[in-house]
Amino acid sequence: MRAKVTVPEIVAAKRSGRRLTMVTAYDCTFARLIDRAGVDILLVGDSLGMVVQGGESTLPVTLEEMEYHVRLVARAGTRALVLGDLPFLSYQVSRRDALLSAGRLVKVGAEAVKLEGGRAQAGTVRALVRAEIPVFGHIGLTPQAVHRMGGHRVQGRDEEARRRLVDDAKALADAGACAIVVEGVPLDVARLITESIDVPTIGIGAGPHCDGQVLVMHDLLGLDDGSRRAPRFVRRYAGLGDQVTAAVADFAAEVQSGDFPSDAESYHSAGVAERAPSRLREIEGVAEMQAWAERQRAAGVRIAFVPTMGYLHEGHLSLIDEARKRGDRVVVSIFVNPIQFDREDDLVAYPRDLERDRRVLADAGVDVLFLPRAGEMYPDEFATAVDVDRLTTHLCGAHRPGHFRGVATVVSKLFHVVRPHVAVFGEKDFQQLAVIRRMARDLDFGIDVVGAPTVREADGLAMSSRNARLSAASRVAARCVPTALDAARLAVADGAREIAEVHAALAQVLADEPRAKLEYAVICDPDSLEPVGRIDGPVQLVVAVWVDGVRLIDNARIDPGEVDPPRLVPSAEGRSRGRGAASAPAETTPLLAAGKR
Ligand code: KIV
Repeated sequence: MRAKVTVPEIVAAKRSGRRLTMVTAYDCTFARLIDRAGVDILLVGDSLGMVVQGGESTLPVTLEEMEYHVRLVARAGTRALVLGDLPFLSYQVSRRDALLSAGRLVKVGAEAVKLEGGRAQAGTVRALVRAEIPVFGHIGLTPQAVHRMGGHRVQGRDEEARRRLVDDAKALADAGACAIVVEGVPLDVARLITESIDVPTIGIGAGPHCDGQVLVMHDLLGLDDGSRRAPRFVRRYAGLGDQVTAAVADFAAEVQSGDFPSDAESYHSAGVAERAPSRLREIEGVAEMQAWAERQRAAGVRIAFVPTMGYLHEGHLSLIDEARKRGDRVVVSIFVNPIQFDREDDLVAYPRDLERDRRVLADAGVDVLFLPRAGEMYPDEFATAVDVDRLTTHLCGAHRPGHFRGVATVVSKLFHVVRPHVAVFGEKDFQQLAVIRRMARDLDFGIDVVGAPTVREADGLAMSSRNARLSAASRVAARCVPTALDAARLAVADGAREIAEVHAALAQVLADEPRAKLEYAVICDPDSLEPVGRIDGPVQLVVAVWVDGVRLIDNARIDPGEVDPPRLVPSAEGRSRGRGAASAPAETTPLLAAGKR
């Protein structure tokens, strides 16, 4: 924690050339938030008459109101110096008034006070300083003189006015002001003033030559309803006004739909099983999805994303579990992406059951189901593709032309629409995971791509939506895939290091299964996916096998250091060193049967 900012430090900033930062604050919460950013001065400005009270000027603000807001800001215990504005008519009538008014602000926590006016106020400044109250001056566009100026108008435009402003600044500095706010003057005038005095100038609408800058927090944060045009000197660093409205609209919509409060947001009586129903929000439009994501991000909510093609199974649920651990809100998309299918019949046969998927996702507590419309994903004359080189030339890439281009293109689109912080993919699609990771890194998506372990059926078969296309007999045969992976790992555990030896162990298992046809089995580097010549360290064995016309992919890590590698096929079946077991596989995913977890 940096040390408290003091008046002598403010004065010294001019000599050291350190530029000062001042922001207005009117309550404890914002004082704390702004102070965390490390500004030097929190000004409890009489601008509160406009931005807090909704008035047209600062003139109606009373000393009592200033006392109240200074107290709130001082309560924040900020590192920044707390500066309180003396409101209209609290110091102009007499020095006595000025002393008593300033004293009241100091008593509630102000560490310095600010008053408007030049030479005419020099005597008052001197009196306050003599009473040990540090004073900031304020010249140029002085809002308390709005009627004399004929509105909030830029000052110091002619030579005479310019000379008067310099004299005002000198008079205040000579009287002991520790800094001077210079508002609404041309930049050359502000430069002249800054060069003419030894104490810092702090500009607002006064160009870049002042020793520091101040902005009203509502302007800086965009904390408004957009009904007023901000002056040209304002730079907005956020759009909190729109965010507030959108967040409250979300709240109202979720109350109406019953999404809020969820079970996790409800208390439960001991011994009472009642749970709040979970509701799944569905979004179809790209713009709506982006707007939802933007609102979450702006609110600091972490979005975790699981892209799927639907027909959900336990494997997907494990991705959702992983996503929930890594994010505050979980979005699942279902989109059967036509451009990643190299065969039309495969696309047509891809299993679909949206009704059941909806129930599964609601039961899993997913927050948003994104169901993009094909026409929006690929509008007419869609002409862009994402190609990830090298990683896609081997394995499935060599057998399914255009597949990974389709995957990388759709995932990059989904990333742009869902705008997640983290995205979870299954390690079962090993090459896909590597491709997406590389794409996210190469194209600076700023998304953490996480791999979740493969979930297997009781007999070791990796879970996949495609398994639903296996007949009962093919399903029994399909276990040859994990069995073959086990055989390869056991061969390595027994000392095999040559690729041909390991390949032979795997091929033998598949040869024993007449329904199976090996498409490829490649032992590769786990990162580059380049095939290796020998097993000298951890490698990945990746396979694609056709079983009665259904293409199944799977993979396993092989570590030659492992003497007894864990089996993919549970021991009763797998101990036979990969020779096909004859018993029927366990019931396919209970989730699928019951439609819920
Ligand atoms: O009251 C206020 O916020 C101010 C700033 C505009 C400097 O005086």
